Amino acid sequence: MTHETPLILPSLLAADWSRIGAEVGRAESAGARWLHLDVMDGAFVDNISFGPQMVRTVRGLTGMYLDVHLMIHRADHYLERFLQAGADNITIHAEARYETSVAETLRRIRAAGRHCGLALHPDTPFEAALPFIAEIDLLLVMTVVPGFGGQPFMEKETMPKLAQARDHRAAHGLSYHLEVDGGIYAHTAPVAKAHGANLFVCGTSFFGPADAGAAMAELAGSVA
Ligand code: DX5
Ligand code: ZN
Repeated sequence: MTHETPLILPSLLAADWSRIGAEVGRAESAGARWLHLDVMDGAFVDNISFGPQMVRTVRGLTGMYLDVHLMIHRADHYLERFLQAGADNITIHAEARYETSVAETLRRIRAAGRHCGLALHPDTPFEAALPFIAEIDLLLVMTVVPGFGGQPFMEKETMPKLAQARDHRAAHGLSYHLEVDGGIYAHTAPVAKAHGANLFVCGTSFFGPADAGAAMAELAGSVA
């Protein structure tokens, strides 16, 4: 799969957690290949979600590619637990605190044979990714302030940065995926696609509707 392949990633944050197994199955049956898992620590972001135990649980339920988005400080301290839990990609934030560094944490993810991503808060300029850009598999351009599902897509604030990341990739012969996360619906996904995104994280827009197959068809159709 290249950075030209558009993919819809259901975000487990918006699923019904009283029936997590069925929700994972609903995403898989709808045709999802990657599942997005949002880890929040109550410090880097103003919310607490779940940790490695949930990643491990989901790993036991599905063969889908698990895209783990760490919205936490000290991701390096917790890294081994997420690797052990079976994450396929681990994305860390450029703005978070580390015991070592962003570079060292990315290096360890790669050394474990997994994919690594770097996430940028809406306020963080593209330039913050430059020191790491040749080493990452994925750049996540947050399209809402991280912490909560159901927020509106920040088009004006984030689309220029996404286009900048796309142009940089082309100019330097790089191949990182461009992921958008937050407020992605069938009317916003094409806007993000037009600015370079190929990975579309969908929480409310995927798990909200009762018919996941129809939701997937609409979302995937909007970026086909
Ligand atoms: C926000 C999370 C998102 C969230 C998106 O902090 O990173 O992945 O689940 O939710 P929606 O799609 O509802 O905006
Ligand atoms: Zn996320």
